[in-house]
Amino acid sequence: MESTIVVGLERLEYRGYDSAGIALMDDENKIFTVRKVGRIADLKKTLEERQLPPARAGIGHTRWATHGKVTENNAHPQVDSSGKIAIVHNGIIENYLELRKELEEKGHRFDSETDTEVIAHLLEEYLKEEGDYLRAIVKTVNRLEGTFALAILNSDYPDMIVGVRKDSPLIVGVGEGEMLLASDIPAILTHTKRVVILDNEEIVFLTPDGFTVYDFQGNKKTKEIKEIEWDAQDADKGPYPHFMLKEIYEQPKVIEYNIQKYIRDGEPLLLKDLNLRKILLNKNRFIIQAAGTSLHAGLVGRYLIERFAKVPVEVVYSSEFHHRETIIDDRTLIISISQSGETMDTLEGLRLAKNKGLEVLSIVNVVDSSIARESDYVIYINAGPEIGVASTKAYTAQIFILLLLALELGHLKGFVDNDELKHYIEEIRQLPYKLNAILYRDAHIQHIAEKYHKSNHFMFLGRGINYPTALEGALKLKEISYIHATGYAAGEMKHGPLALIDSSWPVVIVNPKTSVYEKTFSNANEVYTRGGKLISVVTEGDEKMKDISESIIEIPQTDEYLTPILSIVPLQLLAYHIANMRGCDVDKPRNIAKVITVL
Ligand code: G6P
Repeated sequence: MESTIVVGLERLEYRGYDSAGIALMDDENKIFTVRKVGRIADLKKTLEERQLPPARAGIGHTRWATHGKVTENNAHPQVDSSGKIAIVHNGIIENYLELRKELEEKGHRFDSETDTEVIAHLLEEYLKEEGDYLRAIVKTVNRLEGTFALAILNSDYPDMIVGVRKDSPLIVGVGEGEMLLASDIPAILTHTKRVVILDNEEIVFLTPDGFTVYDFQGNKKTKEIKEIEWDAQDADKGPYPHFMLKEIYEQPKVIEYNIQKYIRDGEPLLLKDLNLRKILLNKNRFIIQAAGTSLHAGLVGRYLIERFAKVPVEVVYSSEFHHRETIIDDRTLIISISQSGETMDTLEGLRLAKNKGLEVLSIVNVVDSSIARESDYVIYINAGPEIGVASTKAYTAQIFILLLLALELGHLKGFVDNDELKHYIEEIRQLPYKLNAILYRDAHIQHIAEKYHKSNHFMFLGRGINYPTALEGALKLKEISYIHATGYAAGEMKHGPLALIDSSWPVVIVNPKTSVYEKTFSNANEVYTRGGKLISVVTEGDEKMKDISESIIEIPQTDEYLTPILSIVPLQLLAYHIANMRGCDVDKPRNIAKVITVL
């Protein structure tokens, strides 16, 4: 039992990893809790040292602190005063202080600073009042404001686990003589591929041989069991030392898969759905809202959509979208981009748009995720599970989809003629080979990383469609190596940041052969003449950039509008190797998590 939970937690560790814990129900219906500050590996060690009794049910959690510091007391599971109820929780209970006060007045004493502990005590209180487990759960969840996915153990129901979902993902794994509950699919893949995706405001009662789902009023609901396509292997590192490296290397395969899926007989098929087609043709403005790497893909998307489909595009951080009086009307389409489909900022942006009556198209990786389910239309990027916190293969797959979308829409509108479409489809078909050609140069990139890995700051520059590449390259480096890295539009350097440049600065400049090549070359020269050390990403055979660069990384020639799919790959590898050389935990950088389900 405990190894099932620990393996599941390891698969979910990308969600947060400052502390972890498990609670087990033994044969005498007593709950044993073990919690630990640190990674799952620390918890695992402690569990091995302690001889735990055989268990019939158990729950576990890996935490990314929101309420309460990173201490053992604040780690989950949290228990009630009687020690009979143990709870793990993802999300935030917004009214926990008010509930805590109310419970303290009734004599409850709290051991932690968490919002989660309040839920255990509240349930304890309602169990006393109601006597019936379902009614007590229903009453509890209706008192909670905020977001929550819960797993609950109760000594009075030793063979049962209760799960609750509100705005934070939760799935049920349907096994043979066992049932599993998790916040994401990779956690259960070694046991089963049959899953039930819980919807918002649902409660599930699990026993070893079945499950029953209720709504927040306690009414029974029927749910469909889905067979998922992923393999347990997809969520394993395989021969790679890190998930990030594995995922960088998967990019040719992901793009190839999407070519097979979305291009037939030389035609893009994204807009096969006639409704979606009608909607896109009818809109005169797109707003792309996303976070982190997905936002950077959106920035590339803006160049692509404006160029091919001639629709004005605005790109906004989801976390800022909420705070603006954005001028919109019913001809505005909202496009949400998210790898996980669970980023709360992006989900809230989507809800805001829907509340205003707007239609939302989402570009998502995780099938059936909240963003996918709440959108009017979804296009999947089919990147497979992405586990490394630094997003890599999802980024190139997102750009691929945006490229195809822009071309298809442009073609439908008559802005892209048949010959042009043919040219682009041919170029697109070569992407997997060209991506592989970049991966063959990994040893060279590693060598460059060796040279610069001790630098304490980096600048990343790009222009035109590769300006977002510079932003993404800088994000990759800073998030996994903790080096200060800034991405800038190359043409903006002269308006301020150039003042920073001296011989201590490695400056990564992305300048493949595009329409802005000469302009970017001038910007590179501005850096070179101030003593900056240029690491240049250029098209194969570029002698001119070589003359002023300290290091050169070549990428295969491609059309300007496809270059972002190639030019980011060396920067992903550079960040990976530098972080590794600095001894950083590449897959699990400090302070951040892969899926941020808080606002
Ligand atoms: C977190 C991750 C980033 C990711 C961002 C958006 O901050 O650390 O790598 O780009 O969330 O995630 P999404 O799943 O919505 O693409």
